[in-house]
Amino acid sequence: MLLLAASAAGSVSPAARLGARARAAAPAMRRLVRRAAATETSVSEGTSGPTDVKTILECKKDMSDIVSLCKRRGFVYPSSEIYSGFAGFFDYGPLGVELRNNIKRAWWEDMVQRRDDVVGLDSSIIASPRIWEASGHVAGFSDPMVDCKESKQRFRADQLFFAKVADGAGAHAGYVSLLEGADMEAAAAKAAGALLKKLKRDGPAQLSPLRDFTEADPSEYALVPSPATGEPGTLTAPRDFNLMFQTSVGAMTDGSSVAYLRPETAQGIFTNFKNVVSSTRVKVPFGIAQIGKAFRNEITPRNFIFRSREFEQMELEYFIKPTDVEEEWRAQHAAWVETRLAWHIGIGIDPALLSIEQHKPDKLAHYARACSDIMFKFPFGVSELEGCAHRGGYDLTQHASASGKSAEYTDEETKAKYVPHVIEPSVGVDRCFLAVLCSAYAEDVVNGEARTLLRFHPRVAPIKVGVFPLVKNNEQIMESARELHKRLQRRHNVAFDAAGNIGRRYRRMDEAGTPFCVTVDFQTLEDGTVTLRDRDSTAQRRVSPDELVAFVADACE
Ligand code: GAP
Repeated sequence: MLLLAASAAGSVSPAARLGARARAAAPAMRRLVRRAAATETSVSEGTSGPTDVKTILECKKDMSDIVSLCKRRGFVYPSSEIYSGFAGFFDYGPLGVELRNNIKRAWWEDMVQRRDDVVGLDSSIIASPRIWEASGHVAGFSDPMVDCKESKQRFRADQLFFAKVADGAGAHAGYVSLLEGADMEAAAAKAAGALLKKLKRDGPAQLSPLRDFTEADPSEYALVPSPATGEPGTLTAPRDFNLMFQTSVGAMTDGSSVAYLRPETAQGIFTNFKNVVSSTRVKVPFGIAQIGKAFRNEITPRNFIFRSREFEQMELEYFIKPTDVEEEWRAQHAAWVETRLAWHIGIGIDPALLSIEQHKPDKLAHYARACSDIMFKFPFGVSELEGCAHRGGYDLTQHASASGKSAEYTDEETKAKYVPHVIEPSVGVDRCFLAVLCSAYAEDVVNGEARTLLRFHPRVAPIKVGVFPLVKNNEQIMESARELHKRLQRRHNVAFDAAGNIGRRYRRMDEAGTPFCVTVDFQTLEDGTVTLRDRDSTAQRRVSPDELVAFVADACE
């Protein structure tokens, strides 16, 4: 793995460079903080600014903390909760739907609208099953699964780890098993200690290296204990399980009506490649982008919205002229990895939590030339946030031969004909949502009081501004605050809060991740200015409504 956050002595890491670039893209923010610090006036928060700032990792929060925070604050709810839930599905609450939409909007603006070489598409979720035969999904889109015959639980074989245990004298004592997770070595050592104790054998326990169940010898299947019961002899051999959800289309439900809910949005792009070329003025190199739902019947949906059964993807297929000059195609691929990494940093993800992992040649799909994953340090460990693959000409060629319709592109100038190659950056909206949320989580101390806040970039923050009338019992102040609220509402999602003291209202907005709060007070009635307070620094300054509107619009870009 190539860790980007750390750099060799004296050199500047790519992530640090990109972080600097993203920071430079928000000079208005920095100017505000500087000016605010110089002209600070306080509404109940003092002037010292926050201390003891801790990130999510420093606070040692785990996924259960994130799940309960999401539910408490209306970001994400478990699906079908009143019917005891439905594993692998989630509902997004009032703040969640805003954050989600803002992430999708930022991606669409940056990957489609602000580029001259990318166009958009919205293809159907259910399409001809022949697409999935041609793409290889019917035959090969599967994960190896293992059943526990006793507990009836099902596991992904590549996520079920086991090790041989020997006692202190080196004599074989049995096996331990555990599911993939953080700090597995320590968990395996603990389980091995417990096994020796149960067998009344002396330690210390000696463990063989952990292997996943796909690497088990068939003679070991019956010896590895089930993670559900802790007893051996109940696990089946691994079998392939196709992840596509089946449905039937039309009145008949026989073999001819079988269709699939798409497991990725990409194939809709490939099957429309010729349509887009002939109905628009695109020229290779160009991209087609799509945001849409995807469905996978994951064996073990895990880690909240990180791996769910219904999720949304933001995928871009960037069509390029094929070349066998390795330096050339590697540079094209690397440029997209850098573009995508910069995008994540640009929407506020902490560069220190991001890294790049290049797939080793033996781990690449047979058609892929290269693949790099953008990784994020989630509370459960470093895992894939986005994949960026060079897929060669595999997809277009497959569809051309299965449909009998050419996928060739004709270069208008040279008249050369070829099937383009493709580079595919693909990221899940939900995974990006989780990364943005985890990266934004912080705890600090303001005026001696502990505070929890979400430091969202203003562009993705669910609520951009909280508007507060200082007092409820002054009609002029209330009227002025309502007017300002209405004005900001034309362009942004803003909140109006007149309940409780200002300090408590600030805290509510900090917890929702609202970057700015404005207070309409008695001075507003005299000179029209309001107090603008910055969430992260808690610095305040007075601004006119026009200045405020321009500032918020700028900060949310
Ligand atoms: N078209 C390529 C493709 O679908 P993938 O690596 O299977 O590749 C791309 O998926 C991205 O979609 C992943 O990097 C991840 O962000 C997201 N994703 C995949 N499966 C997911 C799941 N079960 N739940 C949430 N997000 C998922």
